[in-house]
Amino acid sequence: MTELRVGLLGLGTIGTGVARILIEQKDLISRRLGKQVRLIAAADRDLGRDRGLDFTGVRLCDDANDIVSADDIDLVVELIGGYEPARTFVAAALANGKHVVTANKALIAKHGEELFPLAASKGLQIGFEAAVGGGIPCMKALREGLAANAIESVYGILNGTCNFILTKMENEGVDYADVLKEAQALGYAEADPTFDVEGIDTAQKLSILAAMAFGSKIRFDEVFTEGISRITATDIQAAHEMGYRIKLLGIAKPHGENGAVDAVEMRVHPTLVPLSSQMAQVSDSYNAVQISGDFVEHTMYFGRGAGERPTASAVVADIMDITSGFPHAITHLAPPMGFVESSRRNIPTMPMADTVCEYFIRLMVKDQPGVIASVTSILADHRISLEALTQKERHKSHNVPIIMLTHETTEGNLQAAISRITGLDAVEEDVLILRKESAVA
Ligand SMILES: NC(=O)c1ccc[n+]([C@@H]2O[C@H](COP(=O)([O-])OP(=O)(O)OC[C@H]3O[C@@H](n4cnc5c(N)ncnc54)[C@H](OP(=O)(O)O)[C@@H]3O)[C@@H](O)[C@H]2O)c1
Repeated sequence: MTELRVGLLGLGTIGTGVARILIEQKDLISRRLGKQVRLIAAADRDLGRDRGLDFTGVRLCDDANDIVSADDIDLVVELIGGYEPARTFVAAALANGKHVVTANKALIAKHGEELFPLAASKGLQIGFEAAVGGGIPCMKALREGLAANAIESVYGILNGTCNFILTKMENEGVDYADVLKEAQALGYAEADPTFDVEGIDTAQKLSILAAMAFGSKIRFDEVFTEGISRITATDIQAAHEMGYRIKLLGIAKPHGENGAVDAVEMRVHPTLVPLSSQMAQVSDSYNAVQISGDFVEHTMYFGRGAGERPTASAVVADIMDITSGFPHAITHLAPPMGFVESSRRNIPTMPMADTVCEYFIRLMVKDQPGVIASVTSILADHRISLEALTQKERHKSHNVPIIMLTHETTEGNLQAAISRITGLDAVEEDVLILRKESAVA
Protein backbone atom coordinates (compact mmCIF):
# COMPACT_ATOMS: atom_id res chain seq x y z
CA MET A 1 0.00 0.00 0.00
CA THR A 2 1.29 3.50 -0.84
CA GLU A 3 2.64 5.20 2.25
CA LEU A 4 3.19 8.88 3.13
CA ARG A 5 5.89 9.32 5.76
CA VAL A 6 5.35 12.09 8.30
CA GLY A 7 7.87 13.95 10.46
CA LEU A 8 6.48 16.00 13.34
CA LEU A 9 8.06 19.16 14.77
CA GLY A 10 6.84 19.87 18.31
CA LEU A 11 5.24 17.37 20.69
CA GLY A 12 3.29 19.91 22.74
CA THR A 13 -0.51 20.11 23.01
CA ILE A 14 -1.31 19.83 19.30
CA GLY A 15 1.74 17.75 18.32
CA THR A 16 0.74 15.12 20.87
CA GLY A 17 -2.83 15.20 19.53
CA VAL A 18 -1.61 14.68 15.96
CA ALA A 19 0.66 11.81 17.01
CA ARG A 20 -2.30 10.31 18.90
CA ILE A 21 -4.57 10.39 15.83
CA LEU A 22 -1.88 9.03 13.51
CA ILE A 23 -1.26 6.15 15.92
CA GLU A 24 -4.80 5.45 17.19
CA GLN A 25 -6.78 6.11 13.97
CA LYS A 26 -4.26 4.42 11.67
CA ASP A 27 -6.75 1.85 10.33
CA LEU A 28 -9.56 4.37 9.83
CA ILE A 29 -7.18 6.64 7.91
CA SER A 30 -5.97 3.88 5.59
CA ARG A 31 -9.52 2.65 5.00
CA ARG A 32 -10.57 6.17 4.01
CA LEU A 33 -7.55 6.76 1.75
CA GLY A 34 -6.54 3.33 0.47
CA LYS A 35 -3.08 4.55 1.45
CA GLN A 36 -1.16 4.71 4.69
CA VAL A 37 0.03 7.68 6.70
CA ARG A 38 2.98 6.69 8.89
CA LEU A 39 4.49 8.77 11.66
CA ILE A 40 8.21 8.20 11.08
CA ALA A 41 9.83 10.76 13.38
CA ALA A 42 9.07 13.52 15.88
CA ALA A 43 11.23 16.27 17.35
CA ASP A 44 10.81 18.21 20.57
CA ARG A 45 13.17 20.02 22.90
CA ASP A 46 11.94 17.90 25.82
CA LEU A 47 11.68 14.21 25.02
CA GLY A 48 11.52 13.18 28.68
CA ARG A 49 7.90 14.29 29.23
CA ASP A 50 5.31 11.48 29.31
CA ARG A 51 2.78 12.08 26.53
CA GLY A 52 0.71 8.99 27.28
CA LEU A 53 1.49 7.51 23.87
CA ASP A 54 3.39 4.48 22.67
CA PHE A 55 6.02 5.83 20.27
CA THR A 56 7.37 2.38 19.31
CA GLY A 57 8.71 2.60 15.75
CA VAL A 58 8.80 6.43 15.81
CA ARG A 59 12.25 8.07 15.72
CA LEU A 60 12.34 10.70 18.47
CA CYS A 61 14.92 13.47 18.28
CA ASP A 62 15.60 16.80 19.96
CA ASP A 63 16.80 18.60 16.84
CA ALA A 64 14.12 19.61 14.31
CA ASN A 65 16.83 19.91 11.62
CA ASP A 66 17.11 16.12 11.63
CA ILE A 67 13.52 15.95 10.40
CA VAL A 68 13.44 18.72 7.81
CA SER A 69 16.54 17.23 6.14
CA ALA A 70 15.66 13.51 6.49
CA ASP A 71 15.48 11.49 3.25
CA ASP A 72 12.76 9.20 4.59
CA ILE A 73 10.18 11.95 5.28
CA ASP A 74 7.63 13.16 2.69
CA LEU A 75 5.67 15.64 4.80
CA VAL A 76 6.70 17.83 7.74
CA VAL A 77 4.11 18.93 10.31
CA GLU A 78 5.17 22.15 12.05
CA LEU A 79 3.62 22.45 15.52
CA ILE A 80 6.28 24.45 17.32
CA GLY A 81 4.40 27.74 16.96
CA GLY A 82 5.60 31.37 16.68
CA TYR A 83 7.61 33.02 13.90
CA GLU A 84 11.11 31.65 14.39
CA PRO A 85 12.52 29.03 14.14
CA ALA A 86 9.20 27.79 12.69
CA ARG A 87 9.70 29.86 9.50
CA THR A 88 13.23 28.55 8.99
CA PHE A 89 12.15 24.93 9.48
CA VAL A 90 9.16 25.25 7.13
CA ALA A 91 11.25 26.97 4.43
CA ALA A 92 13.93 24.26 4.76
CA ALA A 93 11.34 21.48 4.56
CA LEU A 94 9.91 22.97 1.34
CA ALA A 95 13.40 23.53 -0.08
CA ASN A 96 14.07 19.83 0.62
CA GLY A 97 10.95 18.82 -1.36
CA LYS A 98 8.63 18.03 1.57
CA HIS A 99 4.98 19.00 1.85
CA VAL A 100 4.15 21.02 4.95
CA VAL A 101 1.17 21.09 7.29
CA THR A 102 1.01 23.62 10.13
CA ALA A 103 -1.46 24.99 12.68
CA ASN A 104 0.57 28.18 13.03
CA LYS A 105 -1.58 31.25 12.16
CA ALA A 106 1.19 33.63 13.20
CA LEU A 107 3.54 32.01 10.69
CA ILE A 108 1.01 32.05 7.84
CA ALA A 109 -0.17 35.62 8.59
CA LYS A 110 3.38 36.99 8.65
CA HIS A 111 5.37 34.73 6.30
CA GLY A 112 2.71 33.01 4.18
CA GLU A 113 3.45 35.28 1.21
CA GLU A 114 7.05 34.09 1.18
CA LEU A 115 6.17 30.41 1.73
CA PHE A 116 3.31 29.92 -0.79
CA PRO A 117 5.36 30.79 -3.90
CA LEU A 118 8.20 28.59 -2.63
CA ALA A 119 5.78 25.66 -2.26
CA ALA A 120 4.14 26.36 -5.65
CA SER A 121 7.51 26.52 -7.44
CA LYS A 122 8.29 23.02 -6.16
CA GLY A 123 4.83 21.52 -6.76
CA LEU A 124 4.36 21.13 -3.00
CA GLN A 125 1.39 21.79 -0.79
CA ILE A 126 1.08 23.77 2.45
CA GLY A 127 -1.90 22.80 4.61
CA PHE A 128 -2.98 25.16 7.40
CA GLU A 129 -6.64 24.41 8.09
CA ALA A 130 -5.98 24.23 11.84
CA ALA A 131 -4.59 27.78 11.86
CA VAL A 132 -8.07 29.36 11.66
CA GLY A 133 -11.04 28.06 13.63
CA GLY A 134 -9.18 25.06 15.10
CA GLY A 135 -11.23 21.99 14.28
CA ILE A 136 -13.76 23.81 12.05
CA PRO A 137 -13.04 23.14 8.35
CA CYS A 138 -13.94 26.71 7.38
CA MET A 139 -11.05 27.30 4.99
CA LYS A 140 -11.73 24.06 3.15
CA ALA A 141 -15.32 25.23 2.78
CA LEU A 142 -14.19 28.65 1.52
CA ARG A 143 -11.52 27.33 -0.83
CA GLU A 144 -13.44 24.35 -2.23
CA GLY A 145 -17.13 24.23 -1.33
CA LEU A 146 -17.72 27.92 -2.07
CA ALA A 147 -15.28 28.15 -5.00
CA ALA A 148 -18.05 29.10 -7.46
CA ASN A 149 -18.91 32.27 -5.53
CA ALA A 150 -17.63 35.81 -5.35
CA ILE A 151 -17.39 36.18 -1.58
CA GLU A 152 -19.40 39.10 -0.19
CA SER A 153 -18.48 39.01 3.49
CA VAL A 154 -16.71 37.04 6.17
CA TYR A 155 -17.60 37.34 9.85
CA GLY A 156 -15.89 35.28 12.50
CA ILE A 157 -15.78 34.63 16.22
CA LEU A 158 -12.25 33.36 15.97
CA ASN A 159 -10.89 33.51 19.51
CA GLY A 160 -12.30 31.16 22.14
CA THR A 161 -10.71 33.01 25.06
CA CYS A 162 -12.52 36.26 24.21
CA ASN A 163 -15.80 34.49 23.57
CA PHE A 164 -15.52 32.66 26.90
CA ILE A 165 -14.85 35.95 28.74
CA LEU A 166 -17.69 37.85 27.05
CA THR A 167 -20.14 34.99 27.65
CA LYS A 168 -19.26 34.83 31.37
CA MET A 169 -19.46 38.62 31.73
CA GLU A 170 -22.96 38.58 30.29
CA ASN A 171 -24.26 35.50 32.12
CA GLU A 172 -22.89 36.49 35.51
CA GLY A 173 -22.93 40.29 35.25
CA VAL A 174 -19.27 40.51 36.28
CA ASP A 175 -16.50 42.71 35.00
CA TYR A 176 -13.70 41.82 32.61
CA ALA A 177 -10.85 41.60 35.14
CA ASP A 178 -12.68 39.07 37.32
CA VAL A 179 -13.55 36.78 34.42
CA LEU A 180 -10.04 37.02 33.01
CA LYS A 181 -8.66 35.70 36.31
CA GLU A 182 -11.07 32.77 36.18
CA ALA A 183 -10.23 32.07 32.52
CA GLN A 184 -6.54 32.02 33.44
CA ALA A 185 -7.19 29.62 36.33
CA LEU A 186 -9.13 27.29 33.98
CA GLY A 187 -6.37 27.38 31.36
CA TYR A 188 -8.59 29.23 28.80
CA ALA A 189 -6.37 32.32 28.91
CA GLU A 190 -2.57 32.65 28.92
CA ALA A 191 -0.71 34.27 31.82
CA ASP A 192 -0.07 37.14 29.38
CA PRO A 193 -3.46 37.32 27.62
CA THR A 194 -2.63 40.33 25.39
CA PHE A 195 -2.42 38.37 22.15
CA ASP A 196 -5.93 37.00 22.61
CA VAL A 197 -7.85 39.75 24.42
CA GLU A 198 -6.46 42.64 22.37
CA GLY A 199 -7.61 40.96 19.15
CA ILE A 200 -4.20 40.17 17.63
CA ASP A 201 -4.90 36.44 17.32
CA THR A 202 -8.25 37.22 15.63
CA ALA A 203 -6.55 39.72 13.29
CA GLN A 204 -4.02 37.10 12.17
CA LYS A 205 -6.80 34.64 11.41
CA LEU A 206 -8.97 37.26 9.70
CA SER A 207 -6.10 38.38 7.47
CA ILE A 208 -5.73 34.79 6.21
CA LEU A 209 -9.49 34.34 5.65
CA ALA A 210 -9.78 37.69 3.85
CA ALA A 211 -6.92 36.93 1.47
CA MET A 212 -8.44 33.53 0.71
CA ALA A 213 -11.92 35.00 0.23
CA PHE A 214 -10.94 37.84 -2.14
CA GLY A 215 -7.81 36.55 -3.90
CA SER A 216 -5.66 39.19 -2.24
CA LYS A 217 -2.31 39.04 -0.45
CA ILE A 218 -2.25 38.56 3.33
CA ARG A 219 -1.99 41.99 5.03
CA PHE A 220 -2.10 41.20 8.72
CA ASP A 221 -0.38 44.46 9.75
CA GLU A 222 -3.19 46.48 8.13
CA VAL A 223 -6.12 44.92 10.00
CA PHE A 224 -7.81 47.50 12.26
CA THR A 225 -7.66 45.81 15.66
CA GLU A 226 -9.36 46.54 18.98
CA GLY A 227 -9.76 44.05 21.84
CA ILE A 228 -12.28 43.46 24.60
CA SER A 229 -10.36 44.74 27.65
CA ARG A 230 -12.30 48.04 27.94
CA ILE A 231 -15.76 46.46 27.93
CA THR A 232 -17.66 46.55 31.20
CA ALA A 233 -20.61 44.55 32.52
CA THR A 234 -22.68 47.76 32.15
CA ASP A 235 -21.89 47.92 28.41
CA ILE A 236 -22.93 44.31 27.95
CA GLN A 237 -26.15 44.87 29.86
CA ALA A 238 -26.96 48.08 27.95
CA ALA A 239 -26.34 46.37 24.60
CA HIS A 240 -28.61 43.51 25.70
CA GLU A 241 -31.41 45.91 26.65
CA MET A 242 -31.14 47.43 23.16
CA GLY A 243 -31.43 43.98 21.53
CA TYR A 244 -27.77 43.16 20.93
CA ARG A 245 -24.99 40.92 22.25
CA ILE A 246 -21.32 41.93 22.20
CA LYS A 247 -18.95 39.54 20.37
CA LEU A 248 -15.35 40.01 19.31
CA LEU A 249 -15.72 39.70 15.53
CA GLY A 250 -13.28 39.60 12.67
CA ILE A 251 -14.99 41.24 9.68
CA ALA A 252 -13.84 41.28 6.05
CA LYS A 253 -15.69 42.73 3.05
CA PRO A 254 -14.69 43.51 -0.54
CA HIS A 255 -15.26 46.92 -2.13
CA GLY A 256 -15.24 47.78 -5.82
CA GLU A 257 -17.28 48.34 -8.93
CA ASN A 258 -18.70 45.75 -11.36
CA GLY A 259 -17.46 42.72 -9.44
CA ALA A 260 -13.85 43.93 -9.26
CA VAL A 261 -12.31 44.08 -5.78
CA ASP A 262 -10.45 47.38 -5.46
CA ALA A 263 -10.14 47.45 -1.67
CA VAL A 264 -10.61 45.04 1.21
CA GLU A 265 -12.17 46.11 4.49
CA MET A 266 -10.67 44.22 7.44
CA ARG A 267 -11.44 44.97 11.05
CA VAL A 268 -11.43 43.22 14.40
CA HIS A 269 -13.35 44.75 17.29
CA PRO A 270 -16.05 44.07 19.84
CA THR A 271 -19.25 44.16 17.81
CA LEU A 272 -22.95 44.41 18.61
CA VAL A 273 -24.81 41.62 16.83
CA PRO A 274 -28.61 41.20 16.99
CA LEU A 275 -29.70 38.91 19.85
CA SER A 276 -31.75 36.93 17.32
CA SER A 277 -28.73 36.21 15.07
CA GLN A 278 -27.01 32.81 14.98
CA MET A 279 -23.72 34.55 15.76
CA ALA A 280 -25.19 35.77 19.07
CA GLN A 281 -25.92 32.15 20.07
CA VAL A 282 -22.22 31.15 19.81
CA SER A 283 -21.21 31.02 23.46
CA ASP A 284 -18.36 29.97 25.74
CA SER A 285 -15.13 29.07 23.97
CA TYR A 286 -16.82 28.06 20.70
CA ASN A 287 -15.88 29.65 17.39
CA ALA A 288 -18.03 30.37 14.34
CA VAL A 289 -17.44 31.71 10.85
CA GLN A 290 -20.11 33.14 8.57
CA ILE A 291 -19.19 33.31 4.90
CA SER A 292 -21.58 34.79 2.34
CA GLY A 293 -21.27 34.30 -1.39
CA ASP A 294 -23.15 35.80 -4.34
CA PHE A 295 -24.77 32.48 -5.29
CA VAL A 296 -24.84 30.48 -2.08
CA GLU A 297 -25.93 33.39 0.22
CA HIS A 298 -25.16 32.90 3.94
CA THR A 299 -23.26 29.87 5.19
CA MET A 300 -22.08 29.29 8.75
CA TYR A 301 -19.48 27.01 10.33
CA PHE A 302 -19.40 26.34 14.04
CA GLY A 303 -17.31 24.28 16.44
CA ARG A 304 -14.29 24.06 18.68
CA GLY A 305 -11.73 26.66 17.71
CA ALA A 306 -8.87 25.24 19.76
CA GLY A 307 -7.78 22.37 21.98
CA GLU A 308 -5.72 19.26 21.39
CA ARG A 309 -8.28 17.01 19.77
CA PRO A 310 -10.21 19.44 17.49
CA THR A 311 -7.03 21.16 16.28
CA ALA A 312 -5.24 17.86 15.67
CA SER A 313 -8.31 16.69 13.73
CA ALA A 314 -7.83 19.57 11.25
CA VAL A 315 -4.08 18.97 10.99
CA VAL A 316 -4.57 15.29 10.16
CA ALA A 317 -7.32 16.10 7.62
CA ASP A 318 -4.72 18.25 5.79
CA ILE A 319 -2.20 15.41 5.91
CA MET A 320 -4.85 13.06 4.49
CA ASP A 321 -5.73 15.49 1.67
CA ILE A 322 -2.11 15.53 0.58
CA THR A 323 -1.79 11.76 1.00
CA SER A 324 -4.72 11.16 -1.33
CA GLY A 325 -2.73 12.48 -4.32
CA PHE A 326 0.65 11.19 -3.16
CA PRO A 327 3.14 10.13 -4.57
CA HIS A 328 2.21 12.04 -7.73
CA ALA A 329 2.35 15.83 -8.03
CA ILE A 330 -0.46 17.27 -5.90
CA THR A 331 -2.82 18.58 -8.57
CA HIS A 332 -6.09 17.37 -7.06
CA LEU A 333 -6.23 20.09 -4.37
CA ALA A 334 -7.19 23.74 -4.70
CA PRO A 335 -4.17 26.07 -4.24
CA PRO A 336 -3.51 26.80 -0.53
CA MET A 337 -5.00 30.31 -0.73
CA GLY A 338 -7.87 29.27 -3.00
CA PHE A 339 -6.54 31.11 -6.10
CA VAL A 340 -3.57 30.17 -8.28
CA GLU A 341 -0.53 32.14 -7.14
CA SER A 342 -0.31 34.14 -10.40
CA SER A 343 -3.85 35.47 -9.98
CA ARG A 344 -3.56 36.59 -6.35
CA ARG A 345 -3.41 40.41 -6.25
CA ASN A 346 -1.98 43.05 -3.98
CA ILE A 347 -5.34 44.65 -3.18
CA PRO A 348 -5.14 47.71 -0.87
CA THR A 349 -6.77 47.63 2.53
CA MET A 350 -9.63 50.12 2.89
CA PRO A 351 -8.70 52.93 5.32
CA MET A 352 -10.64 52.52 8.57
CA ALA A 353 -11.82 56.15 8.31
CA ASP A 354 -13.82 55.20 5.17
CA THR A 355 -15.72 52.28 6.69
CA VAL A 356 -19.40 52.81 7.34
CA CYS A 357 -20.96 51.53 10.56
CA GLU A 358 -23.64 52.08 13.13
CA TYR A 359 -22.13 52.83 16.54
CA PHE A 360 -22.68 52.19 20.23
CA ILE A 361 -21.15 55.05 22.23
CA ARG A 362 -20.68 55.01 26.00
CA LEU A 363 -19.80 58.27 27.74
CA MET A 364 -19.15 58.82 31.44
CA VAL A 365 -20.36 62.32 32.20
CA LYS A 366 -20.71 64.58 35.24
CA ASP A 367 -24.19 64.53 36.71
CA GLN A 368 -25.16 68.08 35.66
CA PRO A 369 -27.77 69.68 33.39
CA GLY A 370 -27.14 70.40 29.71
CA VAL A 371 -24.57 67.65 29.05
CA ILE A 372 -26.78 65.56 26.81
CA ALA A 373 -27.80 68.65 24.82
CA SER A 374 -24.12 69.52 24.23
CA VAL A 375 -23.30 65.98 23.11
CA THR A 376 -26.29 65.65 20.76
CA SER A 377 -25.58 69.06 19.28
CA ILE A 378 -22.04 67.97 18.33
CA LEU A 379 -23.44 64.77 16.78
CA ALA A 380 -25.97 66.87 14.82
CA ASP A 381 -23.12 69.11 13.54
CA HIS A 382 -21.59 65.94 12.09
CA ARG A 383 -24.95 64.76 10.70
CA ILE A 384 -24.91 61.71 12.98
CA SER A 385 -28.44 60.72 13.91
CA LEU A 386 -29.36 58.64 16.93
CA GLU A 387 -31.39 55.44 17.03
CA ALA A 388 -31.42 55.32 20.85
CA LEU A 389 -30.09 57.15 23.90
CA THR A 390 -30.23 55.93 27.49
CA GLN A 391 -28.86 57.26 30.73
CA LYS A 392 -27.80 54.55 33.19
CA GLU A 393 -27.64 54.65 36.98
CA ARG A 394 -24.94 56.79 38.54
CA HIS A 395 -21.64 54.89 38.73
CA LYS A 396 -19.65 54.48 41.98
CA SER A 397 -17.34 57.23 40.67
CA HIS A 398 -20.46 59.53 40.77
CA ASN A 399 -20.35 59.85 37.00
CA VAL A 400 -23.33 58.90 34.89
CA PRO A 401 -23.00 56.50 31.93
CA ILE A 402 -24.79 57.69 28.78
CA ILE A 403 -25.25 55.08 26.06
CA MET A 404 -26.14 56.03 22.50
CA LEU A 405 -26.79 54.02 19.34
CA THR A 406 -26.22 55.90 16.10
CA HIS A 407 -27.41 55.34 12.57
CA GLU A 408 -24.81 54.77 9.84
CA THR A 409 -21.89 57.13 9.44
CA THR A 410 -18.26 56.85 8.43
CA GLU A 411 -15.64 56.03 11.02
CA GLY A 412 -13.79 59.24 10.13
CA ASN A 413 -16.88 61.36 10.78
CA LEU A 414 -17.67 59.54 14.02
CA GLN A 415 -14.11 59.95 15.31
CA ALA A 416 -14.16 63.69 14.50
CA ALA A 417 -17.36 64.07 16.54
CA ILE A 418 -15.98 61.98 19.39
CA SER A 419 -12.83 64.05 19.66
CA ARG A 420 -15.02 67.15 20.11
CA ILE A 421 -17.22 65.35 22.64
CA THR A 422 -14.17 64.23 24.62
CA GLY A 423 -13.16 67.88 24.83
CA LEU A 424 -16.33 68.81 26.75
CA ASP A 425 -15.66 69.61 30.44
CA ALA A 426 -18.51 67.39 31.55
CA VAL A 427 -17.17 64.30 29.79
CA GLU A 428 -15.08 62.54 32.38
CA GLU A 429 -13.41 59.49 30.95
CA ASP A 430 -12.33 57.93 27.70
CA VAL A 431 -15.30 57.36 25.46
CA LEU A 432 -15.98 53.75 24.47
CA ILE A 433 -17.03 53.17 20.88
CA LEU A 434 -18.35 49.82 19.72
CA ARG A 435 -19.56 49.01 16.23
CA LYS A 436 -22.77 47.29 15.25
CA GLU A 437 -23.30 44.75 12.45
CA SER A 438 -26.91 44.12 11.64
CA ALA A 439 -26.03 42.01 8.58
CA VAL A 440 -24.72 39.13 10.69
CA ALA A 441 -26.98 36.13 10.18
N1 LIG B 1 -3.27 24.93 21.52
C1 LIG B 1 -4.30 25.13 20.70
O1 LIG B 1 -5.46 24.96 21.08
C2 LIG B 1 -4.07 25.58 19.28
C3 LIG B 1 -5.17 25.79 18.43
C4 LIG B 1 -4.94 26.16 17.09
C5 LIG B 1 -3.65 26.32 16.65
N2 LIG B 1 -2.60 26.12 17.50
C6 LIG B 1 -1.25 26.31 16.99
O2 LIG B 1 -0.56 25.08 17.04
C7 LIG B 1 0.83 25.32 17.23
C8 LIG B 1 1.29 24.51 18.43
O3 LIG B 1 0.58 24.94 19.57
P1 LIG B 1 0.62 24.11 20.94
O4 LIG B 1 -0.50 24.62 21.75
O5 LIG B 1 0.74 22.66 20.67
O6 LIG B 1 2.00 24.65 21.55
P2 LIG B 1 2.88 23.98 22.69
O7 LIG B 1 2.04 23.13 23.56
O8 LIG B 1 3.70 25.05 23.28
O9 LIG B 1 3.84 22.99 21.86
C9 LIG B 1 4.98 23.39 21.14
C10 LIG B 1 6.03 22.32 21.37
O10 LIG B 1 7.12 22.56 20.49
C11 LIG B 1 8.32 22.47 21.27
N3 LIG B 1 9.36 23.29 20.63
C12 LIG B 1 9.51 24.65 20.66
N4 LIG B 1 10.59 25.00 19.94
C13 LIG B 1 11.13 23.86 19.46
C14 LIG B 1 12.26 23.59 18.64
N5 LIG B 1 13.05 24.55 18.18
N6 LIG B 1 12.54 22.31 18.33
C15 LIG B 1 11.74 21.30 18.80
N7 LIG B 1 10.64 21.50 19.57
C16 LIG B 1 10.35 22.76 19.90
C17 LIG B 1 7.92 23.01 22.62
O11 LIG B 1 8.87 22.67 23.58
P3 LIG B 1 8.99 23.61 24.89
O12 LIG B 1 7.79 23.28 25.72
O13 LIG B 1 10.28 23.17 25.49
O14 LIG B 1 9.01 25.03 24.41
C18 LIG B 1 6.56 22.34 22.81
O15 LIG B 1 6.69 21.02 23.30
C19 LIG B 1 0.96 26.84 17.41
O16 LIG B 1 1.33 27.42 16.18
C20 LIG B 1 -0.42 27.27 17.80
O17 LIG B 1 -0.71 28.62 17.43
C21 LIG B 1 -2.79 25.74 18.79
